[in-house]
Amino acid sequence: GLPERVTIWEVGARDGLQNEGTVVPLAVKLEFLDRLAAAGLGVVEATSFVHPKWVPQLADADELLAAMTPRPGVRYPVLVPNERGLDRALAAGVRHIAIFASATETFARRNLNRSLDEQFAMFEPVVGRARAEGLTVRGYVSMCFGDPWEGEVAVDQVVAVGRRLVDMGCEQLSLGDTIGVGTPGHVQALIAAFRAAGVDLADLAVHFHDTYGQALANTLAALESGVTTVDASAGGLGGCPYARSATGNLATEDLVWMLDGLGVEHGVDLAALVATSVWMAERLGRPSPSRVVRALANA
Ligand code: HMG
Ligand code: MG
Repeated sequence: GLPERVTIWEVGARDGLQNEGTVVPLAVKLEFLDRLAAAGLGVVEATSFVHPKWVPQLADADELLAAMTPRPGVRYPVLVPNERGLDRALAAGVRHIAIFASATETFARRNLNRSLDEQFAMFEPVVGRARAEGLTVRGYVSMCFGDPWEGEVAVDQVVAVGRRLVDMGCEQLSLGDTIGVGTPGHVQALIAAFRAAGVDLADLAVHFHDTYGQALANTLAALESGVTTVDASAGGLGGCPYARSATGNLATEDLVWMLDGLGVEHGVDLAALVATSVWMAERLGRPSPSRVVRALANA
């Protein structure tokens, strides 16, 4: 059966904007974050404390956190790859972080400049220190279904990476289909394998990309498997700059439309969210790829 309620983990301001060709001004980011929270999203991923040369779009992370006015009850997680990133995040007063691991060797090297094994050594002190400071820690796993350089990724390989992150102290795993090649049967098999490995369904989230038009079907498969946290990006912004063909995060509006039809609670004001994505599309100078944004904006 389906859950009564789903937590939407909004990634537009981070996963979306990191993939834009232009750098969005700080004031626009601040307004975007506030409009997302005002639309009822309870988890609004804000930015990344990564190397500014690797992701220039998010180079203003320190200024952003200093200038941001958080809304009560809303969580604003940030991505942190290493101890240098954690130092910056702690100095900014961050309470929720996410590390981001790769399920494959090639993407670990391209995204983190580390081998598959070396990435854990980088994350271990981050997770340990963050938990000791009382922060919550999510662990992303990228390339959970396929990898542009290595092809299909074996379920066991993904579970092994995820299991290490849980053992390290990550409270939640986000399973990323970074290049959008997954299909519902594969989703169910992966979730079943995590369950068999002793990972609680309440500690799993899914992160789909709509590159091959499978994101909503995959989401429904995950919900039917018992997952209750779904990542989505307002207006379908973004992808990942270090993964070829990683375009089109699942649009939050498309997700909300499906959840409304299914009678699953989510807490988001769809009209306010669509207005936000239309406004953002104007700032970026191109229309939103979300079908629901297009349909409702022209309705
Ligand atoms: P590196 O070059 O190996 O870093 O990069 P290093 O540890 O060798 O340090 C080199 C220099 O960088 C040092 O400075 C460090 O201080 C500095 P120096 O001493 O030479 O002057 N440095 C930093 N500066 C600021 N902030 C930091 C930081 N770290 C080191 N955090 C590193 C390694 C991990 C830093 C780099 O590879 C990196 O920043 N990668 C991030 C890439 C990224 O953000 N990718 C996108 C996110 S993942 C994703 O999108 C997938 C996901 O969305 C899920 C999905 O869609 O499927 C999550
Ligand atoms: Mg993504």
